[in-house]
Amino acid sequence: MTHARQHRIQVVAHRGASEDAPEHTLAAYKKAIEDGADALECDVRLTADGHLVCVHDRRVDRTSNGRGAVSALELADLAALDFGSWKHRGSPRHRDEEPDWEHRPEDPAETSVLTLERLLGLVADAGRRVELAIETKHPTRWAGQVEERLLLLLKRFGLDAPAAPEKSQVRVMSFSARSLHRVRAASPTLPTVYLMQFVSPRLRDGRLPAGVRIAGPSIRIVRNHPMYIKRLKRAGHQVHVWTVNEPGDVDLCVGLGVDAIITNRPRAVLGWLGH
Ligand code: G3P
Ligand code: CA
Repeated sequence: MTHARQHRIQVVAHRGASEDAPEHTLAAYKKAIEDGADALECDVRLTADGHLVCVHDRRVDRTSNGRGAVSALELADLAALDFGSWKHRGSPRHRDEEPDWEHRPEDPAETSVLTLERLLGLVADAGRRVELAIETKHPTRWAGQVEERLLLLLKRFGLDAPAAPEKSQVRVMSFSARSLHRVRAASPTLPTVYLMQFVSPRLRDGRLPAGVRIAGPSIRIVRNHPMYIKRLKRAGHQVHVWTVNEPGDVDLCVGLGVDAIITNRPRAVLGWLGH
């Protein structure tokens, strides 16, 4: 299945090439870059000593051999953990599954905790333009610290103040309108994505929080309520859909003219799109 379209849909590797390698590890992001992903998605959380690390869950239990909340652990504690072997064993929640990660790298750095700083370094050294879609997790608990640290880090890489949103290599995503507002207040040209998991009055009306131009609906919303996606597009918004892993859902997104597909399977999606 290939598609000819007027605009190129961006393929975003969700937590890296997370079907093939453990999510949010260097191994997963390197694989996504190798596979040709246009962009990388990552979730960021603050450690107890103020470092931004790429971890999805509030706790490290599912994706490492450790226990505890990221916010209660220091970077050195996290650095001692292995974020790769759960994938080989099957996740703790799915202990009966067959191992699904056969080609484990020997270098432990590939599967240790990934700081956002290291991920920015990987993108800087990619040898081609790779964009980053960074999601702030639990930003309200930290009253602005996540965004503050994020912008400081982006500044260090010269990515905090693009000349215009469409030129930016980075975008910030969140389910929290307040988090996006903080980012825009500090850096008005940095694009922001408002994530949506459920239908809300805002979605029904095709409205996004003030200043946000990109909607990030779940694939479930897209399947069940395609008219809301059309409404967002008609209102001039971009639409970035997560998490799209099946060819039928890719077809649906293409038909609706979405702008980015966020997937655990970047190589497969690139193939289906004929990129
Ligand atoms: O890309 C957005 C998507 O990642 C939001 O959901 O739970 O995977 O962070 P989640
Ligand atoms: Ca995410």
